[in-house]
Amino acid sequence: MRKNIVAGNWKMNTTVQEGVALAKEVNDALAAGKNNCDVVICVPFTHLVPVAGAIDSKVLGLGAENCAQYDKGAYTGEVSASMVASTGAGYVILGHSERRQYYGENNDTLKAKTRLALDNGLTPIFCVGEVLEERENGSYNDVVQSQVEALFDLAAEDFSKIIVAYEPVWAIGTGKTATAEQAQDMHAHIRSVIAGKYGNEIADNTSILYGGSCKPSNARELFAKPDVDGGLIGGAALKADSFMGIVEAFN
Ligand code: PGA
Repeated sequence: MRKNIVAGNWKMNTTVQEGVALAKEVNDALAAGKNNCDVVICVPFTHLVPVAGAIDSKVLGLGAENCAQYDKGAYTGEVSASMVASTGAGYVILGHSERRQYYGENNDTLKAKTRLALDNGLTPIFCVGEVLEERENGSYNDVVQSQVEALFDLAAEDFSKIIVAYEPVWAIGTGKTATAEQAQDMHAHIRSVIAGKYGNEIADNTSILYGGSCKPSNARELFAKPDVDGGLIGGAALKADSFMGIVEAFN
């Protein structure tokens, strides 16, 4: 059966020292309790090595927030999937709406990044989601479907390693959460799109996370929905207390 997962996305926040302290706090809180989900933190590239050294990988997973679309070579300033994997990280967020919007990532870039992530043993947390205009004009199901279909060149075995994160762009960092019903409807749609391509077994085993102003006060209601398998958490992942409050929504 699919896993429940709570993943933090720190974005461009915290110094290395602050990040190591936050990671340790989350790690220790998880180690002290009994948790009913996998927990992952996705951190800036500069933080990967020191955070990997500060946490117990059996307690807390570690990921990057992006990786390069090329394997290696003359791409000044880029960080490859193999570099990310060599830090000890096991995950990478791909296709976050901020990457799509500000850095021009599209289906072609994301196909290449996903391929490289998988080839290097990383689990992609692949983000999809519509903007406000698409929510309002009713095209959101088609938009998200086409974002998921960007991965449909993958063999079934590879697709089965992907975690999908549905993040309606209008809900990210805005305090405006999708209702649990809106999230459930979209997650069920995504699952049916996956089933149409890869069959029910793979669709049922794919974890689909919700992201966008998820916090301790709304996580329980969101995660109670049958197709919502956890969350991708931005702002509320920057404090151990609020992040743990979301993890505890599964208890
Ligand atoms: P938010 O961000 O929780 O701050 O809305 C979520 C995300 O962008 O992954």
